[in-house]
Amino acid sequence: IQWFPGHMAKARREIEENLKLVDVVIELVDARAPHASQNPMLQEIIQNKQKVVLLMKQDLADPVKTKKWITYFNENEITALAIHVNNKNDIAKIIEVVNNKGLEQQKRLLNKGVQQRAVRALIAGVPNVGKSTLINRLANKKIAKIGDRPGVTKKQQWIKVRQKFELLDTPGILWPKFEEQLIGMKLAAIGTIKYELVPTQDVAAFVIDFLFEHDPNQLEKRYRLTEHDDMWDTFVHIGKHRGALESGGQVNFDKVAEFILQDFRTGKLGRITLEVPE
Ligand code: GTP
Repeated sequence: IQWFPGHMAKARREIEENLKLVDVVIELVDARAPHASQNPMLQEIIQNKQKVVLLMKQDLADPVKTKKWITYFNENEITALAIHVNNKNDIAKIIEVVNNKGLEQQKRLLNKGVQQRAVRALIAGVPNVGKSTLINRLANKKIAKIGDRPGVTKKQQWIKVRQKFELLDTPGILWPKFEEQLIGMKLAAIGTIKYELVPTQDVAAFVIDFLFEHDPNQLEKRYRLTEHDDMWDTFVHIGKHRGALESGGQVNFDKVAEFILQDFRTGKLGRITLEVPE
């Protein structure tokens, strides 16, 4: 999706409508960049609902930094869990926490005379953070993506999650932050923002610089890269090492950039988190 003011307004309206139906909001952020991948508007419109933050893709993130983030959220009185979507214990933890939060919320409302019903929750997050995958895991079956069938408006449904709560089958899609170039780089690196917005070579260069500063061993292990003074030379080195060459033997810079980003996104450059709490 390309985000324009109109899209943002529509997304906001949709979430506001759906918020009325639920007790708990499950906000997904990416564990590799929990600040950059958090949408600033959500908190504004959530108001008095309960919220659980899930740091998704923790299997790709630096476990030490993930702990720091969890502590940071907790210190700000926000419940946060680190999640790998294929880990059954992680999924069980989500179910327990969402259920408890929902019951808490309902208790408040019961005092106001509202009738008790099943706890209800919705999932929201920026593109590619793992919303659909998580819905499928919680549902224990494959739910079609709305986006798979353009032009078809599906009626929203509630998925029963192990008798513990009901989940709206359509996630709220939040727009990424655009205000800062560094945030844009992080979001492009983790795959939230598509390439058209930030040139691939720039994003790959950002990843290389970040690793050289924070975890140079990974570059040595993966690319036999021991020094990095000049991005051009570094790309040529990696290109030769990975065989990203054109027929004339020239290094193909776009290919090199793709290799680097693919390695980063699949964890082949180690478990990397791009930011720590302030
Ligand atoms: P949009 O439809 O673009 O809004 O994306 P989404 O938020 O629904 O994300 P989706 O579920 O399509 O997941 C995006 C990618 O992340 C997929 O390739 C998933 O396999 C992957 N993914 C989701 N959760 C995890 C996780 O915990 N760990 C890892 N390594 N990958 C994950």
